[in-house]
Amino acid sequence: MENIQVKINPTPGSSYPILIGENLLDNPYELIKNYTRANRFLVVTNEKVFSLYGSTFDTDFAEVIVLPDGEEYKNIEVLGLIIDKALKLKIERKDAIIALGGGVIGDMAGFAAAIYQRGIDYIQVPTTLLAQVDSSVGGKVAVNHKLSKNVIGSFYQPKLVIADTNTLNTLDDRQFKTGLSEVLKYAFIEKSCKADVDYHFFEFLETHRNEIFSKNHEVLKKLIKICCLLKSSVVNKDEKEKGLRAILNFGHTYAHALEIVTDYRYFTHGEAVSIGMKIIFDLALETGTINRDYYNRATKLLSDYNLVTDFQIKLDEELFYDAMKSDKKVSDGNINFVMPVGFKEVAFKNNIDKKYILSGI
Ligand code: NAD
Ligand code: GLY
Repeated sequence: MENIQVKINPTPGSSYPILIGENLLDNPYELIKNYTRANRFLVVTNEKVFSLYGSTFDTDFAEVIVLPDGEEYKNIEVLGLIIDKALKLKIERKDAIIALGGGVIGDMAGFAAAIYQRGIDYIQVPTTLLAQVDSSVGGKVAVNHKLSKNVIGSFYQPKLVIADTNTLNTLDDRQFKTGLSEVLKYAFIEKSCKADVDYHFFEFLETHRNEIFSKNHEVLKKLIKICCLLKSSVVNKDEKEKGLRAILNFGHTYAHALEIVTDYRYFTHGEAVSIGMKIIFDLALETGTINRDYYNRATKLLSDYNLVTDFQIKLDEELFYDAMKSDKKVSDGNINFVMPVGFKEVAFKNNIDKKYILSGI
């Protein structure tokens, strides 16, 4: 089992482990009890995940709430159901929430933990690739609004993350590829993450495609570990996204707008991100922030991993632009883009003309 420490500077004592390995969900409370004083738990999950992995969590010291499945349910009404359940069960401050599922469950359950009784412990048990490499780490918790993605939320760190790679065996191809979008994102931003070590992650992905698609667990563990190390390097330096952390939103300005204008029902989050990354690479080539060689290499990686990079639906440009302007990175009315500026390197640009911005959609 790998154990990575996420350290949040400068908050004293605010660090927690990410455990990565196989069979970790055989006896999860054996792990959990070492990281929280709670001895009663509210497990937040959805129907699909509960049917696959719920049984070992459903004990006499845990209660379970099973939510509807889907990004369109990541909203304040469904969040209210978690709070209702916690109140009815008389969940106390010293109890804890367990988020068992993908990024939707993780973000919602984490936000419930952040606001219930002004904050109780929670544990992330990510069961999708996307959640294991990204959403379960770093403490961003939120729900969507129909006009803006993840706009109602907080920064609230879990006590523990348990990433059991066995759960990836039951993911369908679409959801596995959705996670790979965020994985490739780390390759495109690696240098800007300012980690102590160069993981050569772009090159790793170029050379390990077949093992990744065949779900070789040793390779998947390494991949998840590198993504978590890169993310924690960023979160450690800028927990509350005053600057650097926004690089983790590479491709997301377009992605979030795509999700909003399609009512969170058409694309998975990862599909929207891979489309967003392709558009931003096109924009970078057009505006000269990267050269043709890097553009070809980056877009080849996107296509080698069969990621979704275009779409057939016709979007209303003004509605789309409006949705982009509701992004949390908008400042003084300017949309802040995370642009590729070199091999594995990104920088912020906010003076891009509207006609260029919309040329990609
Ligand atoms: P998801 O949570 O909707 O899960 C995708 C699908 O896979 C769902 O149908 C789910 O029921 C199913 N599923 C989950 N685990 C499974 C398993 N082991 N086997 C079979 N099916 C399984 O989507 P996601 O891609 O995990 O997460 C996307 C969400 O994450 C978005 O809301 C996005 O905004 C959020 N996100 C948050 C952060 C953050 O830092 N907090 C970062 C990236 C993304
Ligand atoms: N996925 C964006 C972040 O964690 O900051």
